[in-house]
Amino acid sequence: MSFDRSVKIAPSILSADFANFGEEIRCVEAQGADWIHVDVMDGHFVPNITFGPSTCAAIRPHILTVMDVHLMIAPVDPYIEAFAEAGADVITAHVEAGAHIHRSLQAIRANGAKAGVALNPGTPASAVAHLLEIADLVCVMTVNPGFGGQSFIPLENKVAELRAMIGDRPIHIEIDGGVTSLTAPGLVRAGADVLVAGSSVFKGGSVSNPAPYGANINAIRAAVA
Ligand code: DX5
Ligand code: ZN
Repeated sequence: MSFDRSVKIAPSILSADFANFGEEIRCVEAQGADWIHVDVMDGHFVPNITFGPSTCAAIRPHILTVMDVHLMIAPVDPYIEAFAEAGADVITAHVEAGAHIHRSLQAIRANGAKAGVALNPGTPASAVAHLLEIADLVCVMTVNPGFGGQSFIPLENKVAELRAMIGDRPIHIEIDGGVTSLTAPGLVRAGADVLVAGSSVFKGGSVSNPAPYGANINAIRAAVA
């Protein structure tokens, strides 16, 4: 995984058909996805449950791009090795998930993955100020995590603040929640390069009719071009 700041669209399979992840991933990658975003929820850190490391391992062979695993779980540390073994390229943990986020990021890197740190909407940018030497990605949540299809919380100023803090460091800024062709431009202007999009990519399409996935991805790409 090489680093660059070009805009990458990362469809979240939270909005895909859970009984057909392999085919959904093939379709959305064929339609132009740059990364695949995988939302892991535990029913404890967030009020919803999705799936764990064995599902991640099962879908891994179907991903040709980048497997971007977003852990909305607490605790994080006991599960890092399992998600790394499942083949995650990026593992993102929440700064709010425990007392020792620095240790979690170290463990993610030690297990061979890129280390991401996510911020809930209510958490200030300064929460990652002392983590920038050990982070490969900062994820700015623009919804309260737990569900797809929620309305966007405008946090462009926080994104710009993070972009300034990051400077020349090779750290991605990812946005997660409510990304559409309408909300994406301001986020990219503020400094985001990875745009997670669930409902706005998967809406209107299916594995038997995947063309809308491509049209939806292209609409976001065109809006930020
Ligand atoms: C929310 C998840 C997101 C979600 C985004 O807790 O982390 O990745 O899938 O969904 P949309 O794009 O529909 O807001
Ligand atoms: Zn996510």
